[in-house]
Amino acid sequence: MSTIKVNVKEVLGTVSAEQIEALNPEAAQAMEFLHKGTGAGSDFLGWVNLPEDTSAELLADIEATAKQLRETCDYVVSIGIGGSYLGAKAVIEALSDSFASLRGMEDDRRCRVLFAGQNIGEDYLHELQDFLADKKFGIIVISKSGTTTEPAIAFRLLKEQLESKLGKAEASKRIVAITDEKRGALRQLATEEGYKTFVIADNVGGRFSVLTPVGLLPIAVAGFDIRALMDGARQMQRDTLASDDSNLAFLYATTRNALYRAGKKIEILVNYNPKLHFFGEWWKQLYGESEGKDHKGIFPAAVDNSTDLHSMGQWIQDGERTIFETVVSVAEPRHEVVIPMDAANLDGLNYLAGKRVDQVNKMAELGTRIAHVDGAVPNILITIPALEERYLGELIYFFEKACGISGYLLEVNPFNQPGVEDYKRNMFALLEKPGYEEATAKIKSRL
Ligand code: PA5
Repeated sequence: MSTIKVNVKEVLGTVSAEQIEALNPEAAQAMEFLHKGTGAGSDFLGWVNLPEDTSAELLADIEATAKQLRETCDYVVSIGIGGSYLGAKAVIEALSDSFASLRGMEDDRRCRVLFAGQNIGEDYLHELQDFLADKKFGIIVISKSGTTTEPAIAFRLLKEQLESKLGKAEASKRIVAITDEKRGALRQLATEEGYKTFVIADNVGGRFSVLTPVGLLPIAVAGFDIRALMDGARQMQRDTLASDDSNLAFLYATTRNALYRAGKKIEILVNYNPKLHFFGEWWKQLYGESEGKDHKGIFPAAVDNSTDLHSMGQWIQDGERTIFETVVSVAEPRHEVVIPMDAANLDGLNYLAGKRVDQVNKMAELGTRIAHVDGAVPNILITIPALEERYLGELIYFFEKACGISGYLLEVNPFNQPGVEDYKRNMFALLEKPGYEEATAKIKSRL
């Protein structure tokens, strides 16, 4: 059995149990779309059975490739954007020491994963190249389409840097490409340069690809247990088959859509553990790109508490009442820190002496949830036992499955992202990319 718990009791002041249950027939239909491939976007359902379908050979190949990179490199730069970035980043951050990047190389994880291609920041790229100048580094370049501009620029720069350092032949041994089996510039380049490659299956969209080599290779390079991650996901796959609210993904999807239909247009994913910051970023992409279309969709936001209680807390407690929150609570931190007694007690904190820091954090969490419910911010509570690979695997698959159901409840195609193309068209026109001549003339006439 999976270990995640979902509690929707604290939404009942806004929507009734009957209002949530009223969505069950539509959600059952959504489950059928996902399992039988009869809904919109059915070409992109490879993720549904991915945990069960992933072979031991593939996992062994990923582990062996990660081992080789770890043995030859102190740093591996994972290049990718969106779904080719956020899953790995989320898992690595959730599992890593908060100060890993400052610890040098003395801890047992050793090989550090850095990220590039997730922005077009000139300073970011300059500083990264400057940092890598005297380091032993390798590259994982990830692009499903193989044509995305941001990672392509980063890869061109870092590839040139690595080749000028090691020579082409040696450099190619430290580059791994993850891309489409046949199509795209990256596939062609990888074939010509003889890189080790992994395939992103046609039927798995970017934001659903963390449990493919896209996420698994960087996570393994960072020293984490991808088998445990997949075990958790597999367990959650088995536990989310029912078309009723015993299936927690079903329950989460119906609850958030009942709230949406009751006027709650914004969902905030809340954590009380800073290691989950990028999990919130991954979740935002998953839900934002899957649901925000046809002028519909819950707006996904994320906050890190208690930090953001001192910035966004006022708005959440007291601003426009169009929001609900989903708290991801981690039952047990990795370490124990006890607040000491202080004889002078000038800070007045002795009432906390002897308590663990996490006890205070948990009371901040509980106090905030109660305040929010009192302030008409309905609350969904998701609890995971700890930040460990297995539980993160469960959580990832849970959110993916719920996202598929939820997208169909909204009556959108959850698996396309037509809106992402608009900025690209304009950017290419402004950059005078060959083939965009007409668009260039048109956009320039507006400036
Ligand atoms: O979810 C998606 O499909 C997108 O976010 C893509 O992952 C992102 O645009 C990167 O695309 P690609 O992997 O083709 O470079």
